[in-house]
Amino acid sequence: MEEKKNVYGVVLAGGVGARMGNVEKPKQFMEVAGKPILVLVLEKFVVHPGFDQVLVLSPKPWVRYTQDLIQKYIPMKERVTVLEGGSTRNETIMNAVRYLEEQGALDEDTVIVTHDSVRPFVTHRILEENIRAAQQYGACDTVIPATDTIVQSVSHTVISDIPDRSVMYQGQTPQSFKAKKLKRVYESLTEQEKGILTDACKIFVIKGEEVRLVQGEVSNIKITYPYDLKVAESLIC
Ligand code: CTP
Repeated sequence: MEEKKNVYGVVLAGGVGARMGNVEKPKQFMEVAGKPILVLVLEKFVVHPGFDQVLVLSPKPWVRYTQDLIQKYIPMKERVTVLEGGSTRNETIMNAVRYLEEQGALDEDTVIVTHDSVRPFVTHRILEENIRAAQQYGACDTVIPATDTIVQSVSHTVISDIPDRSVMYQGQTPQSFKAKKLKRVYESLTEQEKGILTDACKIFVIKGEEVRLVQGEVSNIKITYPYDLKVAESLIC
């Protein structure tokens, strides 16, 4: 039997992709270079030897469809489990953690590498460094240095601040965590705090817990708008 690594890939495909506009399916199922974006992501995860299993979380009406895609496209399909996503991105992550708990697979050292299902250009190096950093430090975020100056405007009409660019980064994914600790910290939040936390790393940050940085890649883009589909097509060729 293969040695247990206590590391799980968690591919977040529970969103509907509203910013993509009026399309017939959520953006993670749209095709780039002839393959669904989610499949491009899963191809990166299933070949990485660091994971015991890869969990994919889809919107409830799309779970069956996701299973069919995996049957069709993924050669190592026994490494992938499809689950239902949650009402928010963080709830989707928590569904994965609860599943691991139900399976008796959750202990203090269990690591989850959570990744947007719409970032198909994640690299082996980024996955590797996420696993290492989460094991060593408990939590990490994948980032690149900000290239544009960040301008803050609380009123949305005038500038309230221009932070020093040299200490600014753009957040990507994966974001990786010791899963049991993530669950504990998440459950300690009030409903109001949960409502405003769109970013999983912020769950740690607002509780004063350290999150290490892992170097991302400019090419590790997130497909959000129709324009990003064109960029992705050109990056893949
Ligand atoms: N996501 C998720 N569960 C949710 C919401 C989002 O797993 N309840 C996932 C999306 O599927 C996506 C990732 O989180 O892979 C990043 O989120 P985003 O780009 O905002 O995706 P959507 O929420 O689908 O897009 P939009 O905000 O345009 O509706």
